[in-house]
Amino acid sequence: MRIDIISIFPGMFSGVFNESIIKRAREKGKVRIFTHDLRDYTSDKHRKVDDRPFGGGPGMVMQVEPIFKALAAVKKKIKGRCKVILLCPQGKKFDQACARRLSAEKNLIFICGHYEGVDERVREHLADEEISIGDYVLTGGELAAMVVTDSLVRLIPGVLGDKNSLNFESFEGNLLEYPQYSRPARFKSWAVPGVLVSGDHRKISAWRKAQALKRTGMRRPDLLKNKRNRKEQQ
Ligand code: ADE
Repeated sequence: MRIDIISIFPGMFSGVFNESIIKRAREKGKVRIFTHDLRDYTSDKHRKVDDRPFGGGPGMVMQVEPIFKALAAVKKKIKGRCKVILLCPQGKKFDQACARRLSAEKNLIFICGHYEGVDERVREHLADEEISIGDYVLTGGELAAMVVTDSLVRLIPGVLGDKNSLNFESFEGNLLEYPQYSRPARFKSWAVPGVLVSGDHRKISAWRKAQALKRTGMRRPDLLKNKRNRKEQQ
């Protein structure tokens, strides 16, 4: 997979993409990530990427032209199909299903929105999708692009060592993960549930399933409702 990110702060990405699992995925050649400075695609001496909104109002709007030029330049470097995604608070809310879907793409281009907003023509003519990472407003789309990249890179086959760890984690199957414990079996007076040290794998599996359901019901009943709705639609 190839990911290109267009941003006015390309320097923000280096820490996140050069550590941990993303770093290893890049080293293994599972993903190639490139950042591009939007200001490189401006033609005035101030390298301006924003202007006042037509019709008045507060703040500045990200202009369409530098984004158009940046996209054209990036697309020239890409072979084959690519999906252009605008990160902005108005987008579709990101979730694990979306991460799974995007992890199967060959080429992704992220545009990081800023200021009061992005010229609507970017949405209308340049972006294939808009994604928001939640109902809160960030200072820009960069952190959102990092979140989305992180969550989908780990789903690329061969990126995580243990295949099973993907099957049982939170949100797979629309359930939160069951409680996990490790050694020691007793710390101070806090003991691990007996079933987990019983060695009875059938019982352990049943306990985990029940715990995942109980936890999801208590913390995220909306996930169970989605699961039921999906079953009814099948
Ligand atoms: N830019 C600002 N807020 C955002 C959000 N919640 N998701 C994606 N991009 C954003």
